[in-house]
Amino acid sequence: SRTVTRDEQGALTVGGIEVARLAEEFGTPAYFMDEADFRARCRAWREAFGTQADVFYAGKAFLSRAVVKWLYEEGLNLDVCSGGELTTALSAGMPAERIAFHGNNKSEAEIERAVEAGVGRIVLDSFQEIARVAHIAQRLGRRQPVLIRVTVGVEAHTHEFIATAHEDQKFGIALAGGQAAEAVRRALKLDGLELLGIHSHIGSQIFDMAGFEVSARRVVHLLGQIRDEHGVELPEIDLGGGLGIAYTSEDDPSEPHEIAKALAEIVTRECETARLSTPRISVEPGRAIVGPTAFTLYRVGTIKHLEGLRTYVSVDGGMSDNIRTALYDAEYSVALVSRTSTAEPMLSRVVGKHCESGDIVVKDAFLPADLAPGDLIAVPATGAYCRSMASNYNHALRPPVVAVNDGEARVIIRRETEEDLLALDVG
Ligand code: LLP
Repeated sequence: SRTVTRDEQGALTVGGIEVARLAEEFGTPAYFMDEADFRARCRAWREAFGTQADVFYAGKAFLSRAVVKWLYEEGLNLDVCSGGELTTALSAGMPAERIAFHGNNKSEAEIERAVEAGVGRIVLDSFQEIARVAHIAQRLGRRQPVLIRVTVGVEAHTHEFIATAHEDQKFGIALAGGQAAEAVRRALKLDGLELLGIHSHIGSQIFDMAGFEVSARRVVHLLGQIRDEHGVELPEIDLGGGLGIAYTSEDDPSEPHEIAKALAEIVTRECETARLSTPRISVEPGRAIVGPTAFTLYRVGTIKHLEGLRTYVSVDGGMSDNIRTALYDAEYSVALVSRTSTAEPMLSRVVGKHCESGDIVVKDAFLPADLAPGDLIAVPATGAYCRSMASNYNHALRPPVVAVNDGEARVIIRRETEEDLLALDVG
């Protein structure tokens, strides 16, 4: 990763600062984010997609006001999926027209706020929502730009809980059985809505472009049907996010320019076949932008050697700052970072301090046999869906996020305190 490097003395540094110094200053556990790397990834996506496409960063992966500012400065748009994310985006100065609002069960209040703010698009997820958004927009005297989210029936090869385009799940409106065509029919009739196009998101942590290919083909086919039935060519398709990153050395993700090229080729070819003009494409990468930009730093506590099995290395965090291993059986790697060691590798399992045996951060990893309490270890690629899915389980205090750039470190989300916990407990 670009994020963590060793200097000439062999000490690990991030953004020009020694990791051990970061631990001293900010404590552990903590997430450290390489701002320059985040910005470089934003630029790589934006440049890869050029002027023919829009990149919406998926805020659910990780969102803070600093991140919103970076996105704004790097020319990206932002996808939010709750009132909370919308508030964060607007309060950090993201122009409403660069925001897309997602969700399968947006509340009336959330929709009202989004329409009032003038968000660039709302992604409609159900028949009820088509009516709801149209009604609210009309009441507010607006014509709200929208996309309709469809499920294209693709089985993405990823964990069941993060695959989203097969038909038996809660998101979107099925292409099958003419459901999506009916949704379009209704949306086109409603004065409060300006139908921009069709949205499809097939899942997450995907490496194989085949799923996107099928998805794009089916969405373009629907655009053709819409043209035939209504005489309108919808100007946009959004192919969602989901592009995989390397969590361990076994993963081999594509670069943004390869993805952009592949998607553009598929859409152009399908549109030629359907004799449609090529719509504007948008994509919504979250993990691919923020995942590799951060790592979690932990301090080693208890170490238990289980004869003939493995060594359990307990750290000062766990499933409350990274639920992904427990939830998705996710793979991570780990490295000793506070010193170098030439000791033999020992098979280790990095576990947290929670009252649950599934509280595992890294299932199987080799750490040096002389590992000792007090050592610092780092788990890379925790920028996406770790802080954003963090919990207070066992009244753990959620760790801070520290942005490191050019020799300077700055807290962008502070560490939670016991006062924060008690402040919510008003009973
Ligand atoms: N667009 C939509 C409509 C989505 O639902 C998602 C993710 C994205 C974009 C961004 O996907 P990405 O590029 O980040 O894969 N918590 C899970 C992932 C759930 C993703 C939900 N939606 C995890 O930790 O792997």
